[in-house]
Amino acid sequence: MPCTVVVCGFFGDTGKGKIISYLSLKGKTAVTARAGVGPNAGHTVVYKGKEYKMRMLPSAFVYDKCRLLIGPGVLINPEILLQEIQITKSQNRVGVDHQCAVIEPKHIEADKKGHLAQKIKTTGSGTGPCNAERALRTVKLARDFSELKKFLTDVPLEVNTAINEGKNVLIEGTQGTYLSLFHGTYPYCTSKDVTASAACSDVGVGPTKVDDVVVVFKAYTTRVGGGPLPNELSWEEAEKRGWAEVATVTGRRRRSAPFSYELAKRAVMLNGATQAALTKIDVMFPECKGVKSYEELSKEAKAFIEKVEKEIQVPVTLIGTGPGTLEIVDRREELKS
Ligand code: IMP
Ligand code: MG
Repeated sequence: MPCTVVVCGFFGDTGKGKIISYLSLKGKTAVTARAGVGPNAGHTVVYKGKEYKMRMLPSAFVYDKCRLLIGPGVLINPEILLQEIQITKSQNRVGVDHQCAVIEPKHIEADKKGHLAQKIKTTGSGTGPCNAERALRTVKLARDFSELKKFLTDVPLEVNTAINEGKNVLIEGTQGTYLSLFHGTYPYCTSKDVTASAACSDVGVGPTKVDDVVVVFKAYTTRVGGGPLPNELSWEEAEKRGWAEVATVTGRRRRSAPFSYELAKRAVMLNGATQAALTKIDVMFPECKGVKSYEELSKEAKAFIEKVEKEIQVPVTLIGTGPGTLEIVDRREELKS
């Protein structure tokens, strides 16, 4: 899988951070390019006993030889970016495209009031107002900020060079298919398209260069903010089932519902997925916690996975059995033959 795109098939928060971190270590990924909207994302990585909540840098930072790039389609919050570079000690391998637009305090202020805060219930990270200004062609770019100078690079050139040299490349999508401005639950969505095609465009990779699209689902569905969620459960019921989660960026309660086969099927179509990852199997089937081979999963868990595969018509190649990067069942080799 030289060039693989990873996106979420639901409403975000399905565990892309974990999947990307695993794939980067396993594939000795040369380059990971972060796509998506900006710091409204929160990708959680639990590795070597430490938890990281990444909002700007690719979750592939765990593989210490991986170059960490941010594509021109992505919005930068310089403060958050510099903090993450420090936390991950990655100053020598980070590259930010010259043309990334930059979130300023006025964007954050605008995102925390009126329609965006009260109706859409955004993350308040300034991404919507910043993308609006980008559309008006008045926004400032990364090249205008001196504190970003030493990280500036041509991300599309770097990514395509790595692909052409046959190196393993990951494109890290953010948010989720149904938060897409085009394909999501408008107006309850984010400020741009976030499907696999958009992720490629964000980092300057053309559709013919992509080998695999991994769509990530969680064993149940969650969403934060406003908008429809089919078969939504009460918070009390979610607590009973162990599905009561709190959002990474905003600390808000995540709303939850059972796995939606209908949404999953459509997400496979919209993203052109070649395979799926299914995370948090251990939350639904606690006996599966930490399991690393398919055989060891319980009968009930296997039946669920088989049902998912039958409905979505692509193989479930990666199965998350715990929050840790290495708590995973990887069936990619097994399913190839
Ligand atoms: P915005 O992207 O901050 O403008 O928020 C728009 C909607 O998308 C709100 O419902 C947010 O809660 C949701 N959202 C944005 N980013 C994420 C994410 O990374 N995970 C989950 N929900 C998100
Ligand atoms: Mg998240």
